[in-house]
Amino acid sequence: MLENKIKNFEKSLPYKEAPYSKKTWGHPLHSLCSYQGKLKPSIAHWLIKEFVPEGGSVLDPIGGVGTIPFEAAMLGRKAISNDKSPFAATIAKAKLDGVSQGDFNNIIERYRDTISKISLEKQDYLDAEFGLNAKVKDYFHPDTLETILKLRKIFLTSPVGDKSSEECFFWACLLHILHGNRPYALSRNSHPITPFAPTGDFIYKDVFEKIEEKASRALSIDLPSEFTKGEGFWGDFRDVVNKTEAKFDAIITSPPFYGMRFDRPNWMRLWFCGWKEDNFHNESLEFLERQQVKDISVYKDFFSMSAKVLKSDGLLIVHLGKGGRRDMSEELKLLASPEFRFVGEALDCVKKVAKHGIKDKGMTTAHNLLFFTKSKN
Ligand SMILES: C[S@@+](CC[C@H](N)C(=O)[O-])C[C@H]1O[C@@H](n2cnc3c(N)ncnc32)[C@H](O)[C@@H]1O
Repeated sequence: MLENKIKNFEKSLPYKEAPYSKKTWGHPLHSLCSYQGKLKPSIAHWLIKEFVPEGGSVLDPIGGVGTIPFEAAMLGRKAISNDKSPFAATIAKAKLDGVSQGDFNNIIERYRDTISKISLEKQDYLDAEFGLNAKVKDYFHPDTLETILKLRKIFLTSPVGDKSSEECFFWACLLHILHGNRPYALSRNSHPITPFAPTGDFIYKDVFEKIEEKASRALSIDLPSEFTKGEGFWGDFRDVVNKTEAKFDAIITSPPFYGMRFDRPNWMRLWFCGWKEDNFHNESLEFLERQQVKDISVYKDFFSMSAKVLKSDGLLIVHLGKGGRRDMSEELKLLASPEFRFVGEALDCVKKVAKHGIKDKGMTTAHNLLFFTKSKN
């Protein structure tokens, strides 16, 4: 029975056992590009293993960089990831098609050729005046910046939805190395997740060489034989119904923490993907992380879309990570009806400590998994 399975999962929390408990556990493609709010691959792994039938299908409609669908694909499930952020959607698409070293070699050759035909105009340099912590141009040696601006021009010639997975893989490698605090990064010294104002010397970096190095790290371990190609969509979760006719065995997803934003910490990568000041002010308002702060009932849309694409005996699992300013679990349980029935939840022990009134230890990670089935069952 599902209720017992959930209880057993909570008792054993298998992702907390070695080797899954290791911070580095998982295929290197999980680390294709840093992303704030990324789920631990080991949690995705165990949820899929325990709750999605072998050979079944999984959707994450707000999939971020595709952690859950990629892990599902690794376990032989047919998976789709969707996200409204052009940056996150690029990364997820790059992971789900089983891109090979040969595919990458072809694509990098193509872009080497394309870039030789690109010239920069005044507007391109003006675009590099944009920035939140500092201006884009402050982060790079001028010659490195020139290549980045040319590549951005190429990226912007087609929307993410029209890019192939191989192309997305190339862009994902570049997006990852755009800023960081180690030699792999193209920027001056900054931070890998949020491009804090840079420090240190302006050192020239060969962009194509650094992309090649990143690609070989990501492709260093073969995908398992059961790997099943999946798909990545770019768009609002409400539109997923219009993009696939598939009905899923499971929807597994992790909504944004309450009070956090994904656009600001990711501003440079979003800038690369074409975001301008106006997108940060206005388009960001169309994302759940901003909408849920104004009115949590936006999740009614989420549950109603989920009901449309889930099989009648399908399972919806919602992961709520602790770290937000408000615990949304009780509200989501209420908003899920009438389409869904709440079946049970699995709290990890830190959460349980907090629930029983013992002082929560600050930033300690906690996880709360809510399980729903469709009401008509
Ligand atoms: C907590 S993150 C998901 C992280 C993901 N589990 C991973 O491991 O990468 C929540 C995601 O919801 C996406 N999102 C917010 N509003 C959305 C919307 N209306 N449609 C599609 N995606 C949306 C955000 O862009 C963000 O990537």
